[in-house]
Amino acid sequence: MAEFRLPANSTVKKGKYYEAEKNAGNVKRFKVYRYDPDAKENPRTDVYEVDLDRCGPMVLDAIIKIKNEIDSTLTFRRSCREGICGSCAMNIDGRNTLACTKSIAEIKGDVKIYPLPHMPVIKDLVPDMTNFYAQYASVEPWLKSSSPTPPADSERLQSKEDREKLDGLYECILCACCSTSCPSYWWNGERYLGPAVLMQAYRWIIDSRDEETAERLDALEDPFKLYRCHTIMNCAHTCPKNLNPAKAIAETKKLLLARR
Ligand code: SF4
Ligand code: F3S
Ligand code: FES
Repeated sequence: MAEFRLPANSTVKKGKYYEAEKNAGNVKRFKVYRYDPDAKENPRTDVYEVDLDRCGPMVLDAIIKIKNEIDSTLTFRRSCREGICGSCAMNIDGRNTLACTKSIAEIKGDVKIYPLPHMPVIKDLVPDMTNFYAQYASVEPWLKSSSPTPPADSERLQSKEDREKLDGLYECILCACCSTSCPSYWWNGERYLGPAVLMQAYRWIIDSRDEETAERLDALEDPFKLYRCHTIMNCAHTCPKNLNPAKAIAETKKLLLARR
């Protein structure tokens, strides 16, 4: 194996099992972005050595092990550890994905872990999602209807066909992997809503039970909010749930064109 050189401002962290892990046959290096605003220092990369024989199979298992056994200051978000909550989204091996569903075995060489790109960083792997959530709230992601609920069972029913129109949309876990992979969102993130939020806007536009479709489309008829999508497709390529926000954006543009 070639000699490993550390970046100038990086360190190899040693945990209580360090000697055992260093001598184990199945050690993997994890190079992790570190930033602590209280330290008043530039960001750096720390390198951790993890014995994969004493670690679960996913990248999240490794960073939990690092936090528990090597460096308790390492900061990241996670909750469900099964691809449902979206909180462990980060950039792993050059691609935005979920740490809990990304297998370590798929990654050749050192595992490089960064926070989601082009977001302000609160600490280490934790991005500030304030703008993303505000944009999500701005599309009013709930059913809007002035008709009274049907008295018989108080449910607003849909045909099977109308329900199927929501497939590929409702599964979004709002992890922001897509939006933070989109160059248009990088440069205009304050005004362009980005693929995740636009897909959720479309999810309500296309819902047969919603009665404010026209108002929802009006709200998107804006040179920045919607039309900054230039079909770059990074969003669809990176989505860890295999969804296609680009298609939802294209369908929204078609609806706007059709009503002109
Ligand atoms: Fe995450 Fe995919 Fe939803 Fe984008 S579309 S927020 S990548 S689940
Ligand atoms: Fe961006 Fe996806 Fe459009 S990457 S430009 S939102 S197709
Ligand atoms: Fe919930 Fe990864 S911890 S999606």
